[in-house]
Amino acid sequence: MHRVRKAVRENKLSLNTKIHEETYAPYLETTGRGWVLEEDGVIVAFAIGEHTTGNIWALFVHEDHEGKGYGSKVQEPMIQWLFAQGLDRIHLTTGANTRAQGFYHATGWTFTGIDTHGDAAFERRRPES
Ligand SMILES: CC(C)(COP(=O)(O)OP(=O)(O)OC[C@H]1O[C@@H](n2cnc3c(N)ncnc32)[C@H](O)[C@@H]1OP(=O)(O)O)[C@@H](O)C(=O)NCCC(=O)NCCS
Repeated sequence: MHRVRKAVRENKLSLNTKIHEETYAPYLETTGRGWVLEEDGVIVAFAIGEHTTGNIWALFVHEDHEGKGYGSKVQEPMIQWLFAQGLDRIHLTTGANTRAQGFYHATGWTFTGIDTHGDAAFERRRPES
């Protein structure tokens, strides 16, 4: 997962952001869960969401595999699982004016504004059952 994350051109980690392989463990095991999409046994996309906060911690597709529906596919089980935990609202932020902003708009997220860091904020409400 970290290999995929480090390969992206947009939403890169800033030098001040210290994320290592070990950083993922609590998001995967304690505060949230993650899903990966593999091609020939190699991870090419992943999504991690926190049921404790409703925050999407990470959603990345390797740049060699963009535009193949993988981002959409890998976020679906995460979204379903988060709502199944009882959350009414899930949310995320992403770099403003990036491809991700267009992706979230296209896949059913609602833009809620630009946050204090200048990032684009999105939310999703629990679907009516
Ligand atoms: C943003 C990202 C997750 C999109 O993944 P992807 O696999 O290329 O997206 P998909 O192929 O699943 O696209 C799903 C839908 O979004 C649309 N879409 C994707 N990028 C878009 C864009 N820039 N503008 C408008 N629509 C877009 C697609 O057309 C598709 O719509 P459709 O279902 O009607 O055909 C991926 O490009 C990525 O990982 N980017 C770098 C890392 C990043 O920015 N992650 C987000 C950090 S919060």
